[in-house]
Amino acid sequence: MDLTKLRREYTKTKLSKKSVNQDPIEQFNLWLKEALQANCMEPTAMTISTVSEENTPSSRIVLLKGVENSQFVFYTNYNSRKGNQLEKNSGISALFFWPELERQVNIEGTIQKTSTEQSDSYFKSRPWKSRIGAIISPQSQPIESRNIIKQAFVLEAAKHIGNTIPRPDHWGGIMINPNRIEFWQGRPNRLHDRVLFTKANDSTWDISRLAP
Ligand SMILES: Cc1cc2nc3c(=O)[nH]c(=O)nc-3n(C[C@H](O)[C@H](O)[C@H](O)COP(=O)(O)O)c2cc1C
Repeated sequence: MDLTKLRREYTKTKLSKKSVNQDPIEQFNLWLKEALQANCMEPTAMTISTVSEENTPSSRIVLLKGVENSQFVFYTNYNSRKGNQLEKNSGISALFFWPELERQVNIEGTIQKTSTEQSDSYFKSRPWKSRIGAIISPQSQPIESRNIIKQAFVLEAAKHIGNTIPRPDHWGGIMINPNRIEFWQGRPNRLHDRVLFTKANDSTWDISRLAP
């Protein structure tokens, strides 16, 4: 396979310090809306990276479930590999790639858990079977077989027939409080547009253009 011949020119649109919304959260919401309108596949999927105690980075995709009070929210198992890493080091990056729009957004910041009320409320909104799955899956742990999980699912489901399912303590929301957000728009000849927001203080952001 010769991958060196694969080439694509990015020509759709452009981005500048002037055209960008001066509030990066508003700019993000605009691009997310455009990704939804463009029927991008999994427009809310973001690759989050965390760092272990030994400084080894690791990445995986999660789904954005909201942008609330200027924070990016997703839900996961707090005892998972990412959950354990975030417990020791609250630094995180989140990357969106919307290929249909030739766009990337790179977010860096620190995390906090959502309130138990907020986690409860989102947990309640999930399909019944997904709630059972969240209870029984020891996310990121080695398991002997798929059957083990299937059996645990059936046993747990039997306990809750006709009842509301309480959210397990090990599952809930994580909010990313951003301190750096970069918007990337593909341009011809690899001269892409990159606009970077860095947080200056609680309410203001510095804006700069980065070389492609
Ligand atoms: C499209 C997609 C969406 C996903 N959404 C989530 C999610 O919202 N929360 C989650 O915990 N895992 C989600 N996953 C699974 C994660 O990528 C990952 O496998 C899991 O969270 C365990 O990661 P960890 O072992 O690094 O903690 C998703 C995977 C894909 C491919």
